[in-house]
Amino acid sequence: MKEQIKNILKSFNIELRKVYQDEIRQRDSIKEAQNLYQKYRNYTMIPEREFIDNIELCRNHSHIEGAVVECGVWRGGMIAAVAEVVGNNRSYYLFDSFEGLPEVKEIDGEAAKAWQNNKNSPGYYDNCKAEEMYARQAMQLAKAEQFVTVKGWFSETLPKNNIAGKIAILRLDGDWYESTMDCLENLYDKVITGGIIIIDDYYMWDGCARAVHDFLSKRKSSERIYTSKNGVCYLLKK
Ligand SMILES: C[S@@+](CC[C@H](N)C(=O)[O-])C[C@H]1O[C@@H](n2cnc3c(N)ncnc32)[C@H](O)[C@@H]1O
Repeated sequence: MKEQIKNILKSFNIELRKVYQDEIRQRDSIKEAQNLYQKYRNYTMIPEREFIDNIELCRNHSHIEGAVVECGVWRGGMIAAVAEVVGNNRSYYLFDSFEGLPEVKEIDGEAAKAWQNNKNSPGYYDNCKAEEMYARQAMQLAKAEQFVTVKGWFSETLPKNNIAGKIAILRLDGDWYESTMDCLENLYDKVITGGIIIIDDYYMWDGCARAVHDFLSKRKSSERIYTSKNGVCYLLKK
């Protein structure tokens, strides 16, 4: 009996130690993501909580081999931070017009129209226009070695993209219906099984949500739409 109690206590202790270690690991990785946010905050417009979720999602998929692609990089802060956690041993592709967002269409919804008309709002960011050199600077800060910035409209650059091999992490951050659809149509099939597709604007803009629904239902896809703790939408490639 004494021996049995001893064994139970021992296994309980091991269990507790494991829970404690997992907690420490989790706390450390959030701390690292917070530090990355501080490092790149002038290079991204993504709020801190969502930024941290993006880092966590990508870290959880860092074992998947393949390229990292972001469509809609603005100043490149998000993909640069991702590069710091998923490593240098892969290629990074940064697609953007570097001329800001295209004009809102009916399908993007009233809120998008109002946003684009309100040029004086602090969240307007000159219609999300950024110089390409900022994105390059951010990637250099991350010490990324293999990266390209591809300037132009997705509808023109993506069909002739030269992405080598499969994509492990695809981040879509182009806001509107057509921008999101262009990315899905051109890149979705390049994502490797087990890879992740993060869709930044799914909860923000009607057009983005419509594009995701239209794309998946056109293919009669059974893909689930997941949401992280702080509301980041993603798909996992089957
Ligand atoms: C919200 S910003 C991206 C934010 C960025 N990921 C960050 O970390 O802050 C949207 C970007 O998408 C780009 N964009 C949107 N639609 C596009 C399209 N159809 N072709 C090229 N670039 C586009 C804009 O130029 C803009 O830089």
